[in-house]
Amino acid sequence: MQFLKHSFPLLRTPALLIPVLFIMISCQPQTQRLATSTLNINQRVDSVLALMNLEEKIGQLTLYTTDWESTGPTIRAGYVDDIRSGRCGALFNSHTVDFTTQLQKVAVEETRLKIPLLFGYDVIHGYKTIFPIPLGESSSWDLTIMEKTAAIAAAEAAASGLHWTFAPMVDIARDPRWGRVMEGAGEDTWLGSRIAEARVKGFQGKGIGNTDAVLSCIKHYAAYGAPVAGRDYNTVDMSERAFREYYLPPYAAGIAAGAATVMTSFNDLDGVPATGSKWLMTDILRGELNFQGFVVTDYTAINEMTNHRVVADDKAAGELALQAGVDMDMQGAVFQRFLAQSLKEGKVSLQMIDQAVKRILRMKFELGLFDDPYKFSNAAREKATVFSAANRAVAREAVRGSIVLLKNKGNVLPLSKTQGKIALIGPLADSKADMLGAWSGSGDAKDCITLFEGMKNVIGASRVSYSQGCKVNGEDRSGFDAAIKLASGSDVVVLAIGEEAVMSGEAAARADISIPGVQEELLQKLLATGKPVVVVLMNGRPLAIPGVDSTANAIIEAWYGGTEAGNGIADVLFGDYNPSGKLTMSFPYSTGQIPVYYNEKSTGRPFNPESKWTSKYIDNPNAPLYPFGYGLSYTQFSISDPRVSKTSFSNRDTISVTVKLTNTGKRAGAEVVQLYIQDKVSEVTRPVKELKGFEKVMLEPGESKDIVLKLDKNHFSFFKRDMSYGTEPGEFLIMVGPNSRDLKTTTVKLID
Ligand code: BGC
Repeated sequence: MQFLKHSFPLLRTPALLIPVLFIMISCQPQTQRLATSTLNINQRVDSVLALMNLEEKIGQLTLYTTDWESTGPTIRAGYVDDIRSGRCGALFNSHTVDFTTQLQKVAVEETRLKIPLLFGYDVIHGYKTIFPIPLGESSSWDLTIMEKTAAIAAAEAAASGLHWTFAPMVDIARDPRWGRVMEGAGEDTWLGSRIAEARVKGFQGKGIGNTDAVLSCIKHYAAYGAPVAGRDYNTVDMSERAFREYYLPPYAAGIAAGAATVMTSFNDLDGVPATGSKWLMTDILRGELNFQGFVVTDYTAINEMTNHRVVADDKAAGELALQAGVDMDMQGAVFQRFLAQSLKEGKVSLQMIDQAVKRILRMKFELGLFDDPYKFSNAAREKATVFSAANRAVAREAVRGSIVLLKNKGNVLPLSKTQGKIALIGPLADSKADMLGAWSGSGDAKDCITLFEGMKNVIGASRVSYSQGCKVNGEDRSGFDAAIKLASGSDVVVLAIGEEAVMSGEAAARADISIPGVQEELLQKLLATGKPVVVVLMNGRPLAIPGVDSTANAIIEAWYGGTEAGNGIADVLFGDYNPSGKLTMSFPYSTGQIPVYYNEKSTGRPFNPESKWTSKYIDNPNAPLYPFGYGLSYTQFSISDPRVSKTSFSNRDTISVTVKLTNTGKRAGAEVVQLYIQDKVSEVTRPVKELKGFEKVMLEPGESKDIVLKLDKNHFSFFKRDMSYGTEPGEFLIMVGPNSRDLKTTTVKLID
């Protein structure tokens, strides 16, 4: 680091800075002129830029993966030579203090300008301490825990030499065939936006440059979560109205919360690949959302524009991307190979290149890397922070909160801690690797607690026995007999079934989202023993499980819980934690119902059971099996009719909606009180209901509490016919309840 400080005489030589400073000051508006610290970074950025040749500039726009891991075709070998020659300014899939130090050394000791490298990684739901998959965690409706787990993930990553996570993924997704639903926050725009804010705040902590925080990256901009037919990387086509109403807000919320970077998406949108869309990358992102950070592409997304067939070759793809507003090329080597030629031909301008370089350099300055390039690579901090007992304790808390109780007939749950023999069956009951879920950073399967281990940790080894029964996939029934025998000799069966972790995540779309293999058949065989069966589902997406729902005694949705999965699930099974999760994506009856989501619009022929000619299926209900917001508890709650502070209000008012929540059962528990609205008449068609507020409240048995939720014009605004955003006078339904289906309603009137 000493070396680096000496390598930038210009940065500290006032005489040489004066002309730059003068130009900067004379170009700045008054407000920015006063922001001295901003000006300082700008000066420093400019002074570095002034030293750079074109190849070095393009190098800063270039991000390569190391050979540690990769999520796509590795088209660039020899990345160390690229660093050495100044042709690569950022790396991903390189972490740990050792490895990042080695690579940083090449950059700051062997390159001409000694510009430090930026290290990124997919720290999606944990770095080494792995938390539940994000879709699972979103089911907690607990923004505090989501911010906390992101903060821990950031602290562990930053202690291991990383500066940047490619998270949070904030793509709204209404199609559970798409495997990447596991990585997001579900189907709802409003909740998704709050979760985007929480996760950005968690990752970036007290601010960029702190050694327990990393740069966040809002991805995948934009509308990547809406591929046709749920097939990953497929076309996205939707109206601008749908885009702005339902898909754009979470990206906007993450950016408003301070996200330092944005990643482009692979898909096209209305005929233009996102990575080459000036409308998305400049007009909306910079113009409307005032994004100040830098834009990185997704993995070879520039090159892929030739497959989209909007450009004939990689060179033209690079020009389109830079012109659109992309700053950094992930893994495609397109900028590196062609940008100099494109500049020569006048297809792109030096100003465009400089602009992108400045945005990236600025982030390196904000991180403090020019002052100390090894700032994030500290062996002592790595040892103390990564996978600490405290972090694992939070992981266990996160697992418990993410679990959703879907059914509990005859209160078979919670299980007794002291009596009865338990048969634990199923391919996911003791599979460490599956506990991690997809995108599990540098999490290690051997560190994971399985359900079998978690149950033994609570009740000891003598009362629980395990038999696999079958695999997740395939037709092999040879394990059935042993499982049935074990069940017959036990008092209760716990059956852990679902998907293998690799069946969701990137490039893992499914055309049929029922439970794979012979697992459901095994369930029926176990039920035939007459023993109560508690199904524990582990999966990365909503599944179509009408057969499980109609037969199993109890169902727990446990997702993939990460490192502490088994302990957290055992806490719920044995009642040490009363489940409080609520689904953030609807569970359909069948794959054919997809997409099915709670905030659908009214149709001209709404379903009416008395009439044939209405919108419905002849072989399936319209409503999902389990609606958005649904989840049970070991206690019961009642929610009163909503009361409003004003039945008639104006755009300048805030109205309060109050309900009385009572725990009418015998255990302490938490309920998520949810508030939805419906615009009764509006100039464009609107959803039948939209979530606009919630509160998660813990109550002792018999306790009551008034819950007050506030609404103002922001909650009632929408894109009108002319695409202006605002409210329209008229009546609104205000609906409050424990899920999106079972709601109590009142009416208010917006008068102007
Ligand atoms: C994924 C991104 C990820 C990137 C780098 C891509 O395939 O779509 O979400 O950040 O790989 O690993």
